Amino acid sequence: MDFSPITTNTLLITGTTGQVGSALLSLFPGALAPTRADLDLTDPFSIRACIRLHRPRWIINPAAYTAVDKAESEPALAHAINADAPGILGEEAREIGASVLHFSTDYVFDGTKPTPDLESDPTHPLSVYGASKLGGEQALAATGAAHIILRTSWVYGATGKNFLLTILKLAAARPELRIVADQTGAPTSAADLANLAAQIIAANPTESGIFHATSQGETTWHGFATEFLRLANITTTLIPIPTSAYPTPARRPANNRLNCDKLRDTFNLQLPPWQTSLAKVLNALSTSS
Ligand SMILES: NC(=O)c1ccc[n+]([C@@H]2O[C@H](COP(=O)([O-])OP(=O)(O)OC[C@H]3O[C@@H](n4cnc5c(N)ncnc54)[C@H](OP(=O)(O)O)[C@@H]3O)[C@@H](O)[C@H]2O)c1
Repeated sequence: MDFSPITTNTLLITGTTGQVGSALLSLFPGALAPTRADLDLTDPFSIRACIRLHRPRWIINPAAYTAVDKAESEPALAHAINADAPGILGEEAREIGASVLHFSTDYVFDGTKPTPDLESDPTHPLSVYGASKLGGEQALAATGAAHIILRTSWVYGATGKNFLLTILKLAAARPELRIVADQTGAPTSAADLANLAAQIIAANPTESGIFHATSQGETTWHGFATEFLRLANITTTLIPIPTSAYPTPARRPANNRLNCDKLRDTFNLQLPPWQTSLAKVLNALSTSS
């Protein structure tokens, strides 16, 4: 895709060692990509100094505290990175007339709605991580800076820490695996999210807001794993289990589905079906190994 109208050195991308951040940096190799030493989201002074030094037109913030279970025992750290830092980014953006493109999560919902959640639905996070991400959405919006918040789900890619790579590794070593089969959502590729962010920036939005942004379609963790093992010709048996049989420190919503109509209606943008993107990611994995 051609993003040449975007002047890349006016983009500042956080978290470029992460899944979405590294995909963004691949699209925009000329972007400002401060390391954690240059921009530490736990340190307001460091955030303000970095933004004031570079004065970007867009601040893209995929950096986050993403260890969902660990967050239960590190709530202050999760809150500092996920809730406080987006507010500080927003304050600094407002001062220099920049816009912020921020990422959030389906875990702001409790997953009890039987149909996919809308942006306007009431939030009710079940975990410290979900609450901290909701805090970040609210803190950013409260600054009055121009902003786009993309709520997404089940992010994976050919690199980084994610369910796909974890299960592929386990499947290579074990004849059978037990996988949760009663949480429903849409696996969303980091590369797709980076592309989407680029297209939104290219569209130069004039309105701020929250947009749900996941792959089309839905599956369970078990369904997702079944499909990628099939595509990778791995014969490990996957045993479907309920969430109750796999207790974790953080509670997770049963329904992670997000309604993405607002994104389509506003920007005429939709992510591909999850199976299409999965095939691309597996292809990238097989060519890189
Ligand atoms: N992963 C998912 O399944 C998922 C689902 C829904 C929404 N999301 C949201 O999508 C966004 C992107 O997620 P992702 O999976 O790409 O995340 P990720 O791979 O876990 O990467 C997180 C990034 O944040 C950086 N970071 C963490 N603490 C930092 C700090 N104190 N200062 C500066 N940078 C810091 C990390 O740097 P280091 O490498 O130095 O640690 C890393 O580059 C996040 O907002 C996340 O909440 C993710």
